[in-house]
Amino acid sequence: MTAIVDLDPAVAAALKSALGDALVLDSVDAVRRHIDTNLGEDTIVVGPTVDLDSAFELARVMRVQRPSLGVILVRRRVDTNVLSSAMRMGVRDVVEERDIAAIASAVTRSKEVARALRQSVPEGETAEPGPSRGRLITVFSAKGGCGKTTLSTNLAAMLADNGTNEVVLVDLDLAFGDVAIALQLFPKHTIADAVPVGDDLDESALRSLLTNHSAGLTALAAPMQPGVEKTIDSSLVTHILSLLKDMFDYVVVDTPPAFDDQVLAAFDASDAIALIATLDIPALKNLKLTLETLDLLDYPRENWNLVLNRADSKVGLSISEVEKTLGHSIGVQIPSSRDVPATINRGVPIVLDDPKHPVTDAVRQVALQAFGEFRSDDSIPDTETS
Ligand SMILES: Nc1ncnc2c1ncn2[C@@H]1O[C@H](COP(=O)(O)OP(=O)(O)O)[C@@H](O)[C@H]1O
Ligand SMILES: [Mg+2]
Repeated sequence: MTAIVDLDPAVAAALKSALGDALVLDSVDAVRRHIDTNLGEDTIVVGPTVDLDSAFELARVMRVQRPSLGVILVRRRVDTNVLSSAMRMGVRDVVEERDIAAIASAVTRSKEVARALRQSVPEGETAEPGPSRGRLITVFSAKGGCGKTTLSTNLAAMLADNGTNEVVLVDLDLAFGDVAIALQLFPKHTIADAVPVGDDLDESALRSLLTNHSAGLTALAAPMQPGVEKTIDSSLVTHILSLLKDMFDYVVVDTPPAFDDQVLAAFDASDAIALIATLDIPALKNLKLTLETLDLLDYPRENWNLVLNRADSKVGLSISEVEKTLGHSIGVQIPSSRDVPATINRGVPIVLDDPKHPVTDAVRQVALQAFGEFRSDDSIPDTETS
């Protein structure tokens, strides 16, 4: 269920027509009464005529009393001040009134988080069936274009270390995945072929769905036809990732820019999570929201690594300001380089193309921070330097 609160009936009606099925309330007090009697409520959309202090107070109280309930703040205009106070107060998302699509997707995301929180079962019930061979890292950002695919393809190639380790890269961007394009693969099979097999999928069947790239590096490609992604549910993703963790030394998961059920399944299976952002307010806002959500879902902070991509861009935000806003330090900064798109166009990750490139160094840092030693290329002969 979703409840909308606004003092102006016309504004409330407009929000309701954007969101479809929702209950309209005309005061913050009414919201409190509603929440007390409706324990299943998961999302409150606070409209622009509700004053900020009341909205923040509501979010602050709910964060403690009902952590699964998301408060979404709708404002006429969103500036950095409102954003940062809202994040501190536990508001799940802040969106502008005229951005109907953003309001709707904030509500969808809030519901997904609420569902995941309700489903998080006591220890034991979902516990893994024992230690697996491999370790899994998920590369995520809630905003597109930050460099998830760039980092995940390079990280996978780095970890494979020219065949020292066996690594599989999983493209969980099920609707718009471009791992196959970035690696110039021509997959015969994709993850979609696992759907008819379902729970019966075993290691050998799964192996037949993989596409090799280079020594040690193989990929599970995303579906090539649109629409298929809906048939790949989170339990299948959990099953596939658990098999892959037994089959490979490292599993690297590339993701879509959204907290969907499949991504949450990947987080559940993760030993490490690389959260990537660029130095711009929308990307950082999404990173902050992501951190809050991971906190809510109890993913251990020591497994997160914040990665700033194109960190040398001149945008007037300093790293220390960013760290202060996020309340978390940046683990690795990847520089911006024209060589990144150039290597992607050739289907060769930059870490393979140029082992001494600054971007390669940064990717190596991500791997080391996530997994410690993986026998990386300290072995590369130091020919150039004197
Ligand atoms: N460090 C970088 N320097 C230069 N270009 C980059 C860098 N990282 C990513 N890009 C470019 O940015 C675009 C988006 O990157 P991509 O990895 O596809 O993002 P995402 O998977 O998060 O949507 C691509 O064209 C990629 O080549
Ligand atoms: Mg991508």
